[in-house]
Amino acid sequence: MKRVRKAVIPVAGLGTRFLPATKAMPKEMLTVVDRPVVQYAVDEALEAGIEHIVFVTGRNKHVIEDYFDIQPELLDTLTQSGKREQLASLQKMQLPAGAVSFTRQQAPHGLGHAVWCARDLVGDEPFALLLPDMVSFGKRGCLAGAMELYGQTGGNVIAVEQCDPTETNKYGIVGKGQDVGTGFAVTEMVEKPAPAVAPSNYYINGRYILQPEVFELLGTQERGAGNEIQLTDAMKRLAGSQPFHAHSFDGRMFDCGSKEGFIQANVAFALGRADIRDLVFGPIAEMIAAEERPAEAA
Ligand code: UTP
Repeated sequence: MKRVRKAVIPVAGLGTRFLPATKAMPKEMLTVVDRPVVQYAVDEALEAGIEHIVFVTGRNKHVIEDYFDIQPELLDTLTQSGKREQLASLQKMQLPAGAVSFTRQQAPHGLGHAVWCARDLVGDEPFALLLPDMVSFGKRGCLAGAMELYGQTGGNVIAVEQCDPTETNKYGIVGKGQDVGTGFAVTEMVEKPAPAVAPSNYYINGRYILQPEVFELLGTQERGAGNEIQLTDAMKRLAGSQPFHAHSFDGRMFDCGSKEGFIQANVAFALGRADIRDLVFGPIAEMIAAEERPAEAA
């Protein structure tokens, strides 16, 4: 079984659900507490043992590349002014030289197309795929658990979570087969099934481990829903010749591509941070207790 060394992080989408905030600012750079959303995906990948990150970027996304570069003037200024804590926060997020690559998706033809754009940088080895707008919240990152299952099963692994059974029509849903290791066999994948016909309520939550054969299938994949090249369509074809297993994530994935998911993530991460929880929520609790509520929006 080949080791999973590389992770693909596609960041070329237009972020239309979060307009106008994402008109000039990539949605992957919106901050959850004090880190951009994309940093959470990188940290999760590193925690899972990934050694090389491949970003698939697009126009207006160069700020993501700058973010992962070093900023000598900033480092010098922080050093000279003795701002050690801030300096440490930058050093901590610095990826080693050569451990990150960038390629461009010239037009947003869909997630499947974005993944296909990474084919030469990934090469002939299994890889992890992380959708960065999905931010993992839990004791351990979602990808680390998926990697554990991959160590038991090989093949392809999809991370899943359970959704409200009445909302299966919002997600990619998998069918549940027999338990295998820490996960279960995937019997089918269905895009947005109506609750009455959904094979389960396990939805695909944005973390995958895929075999390189998926690239060939993506290269010949016809456009599907939304006239985009859909990753799920290629995975379904791959499932005809290779096993797929599901890792059921025991934390919670926040969809930071949506306004409600983004706000929930900010609240959850802020509550989880001892250094700011009381600073933020103490005054708000007091304000509400004193009924000094801000005027209702018109
Ligand atoms: P989404 O569907 O959530 O991204 O794709 P989007 O298209 O930007 O979102 P909306 O619906 O318009 O708000 C999940 C991930 O895949 C990337 C996105 O950047 C996001 O990180 N993606 C999507 C691409 O890189 N290229 C694409 O063509 C589509």
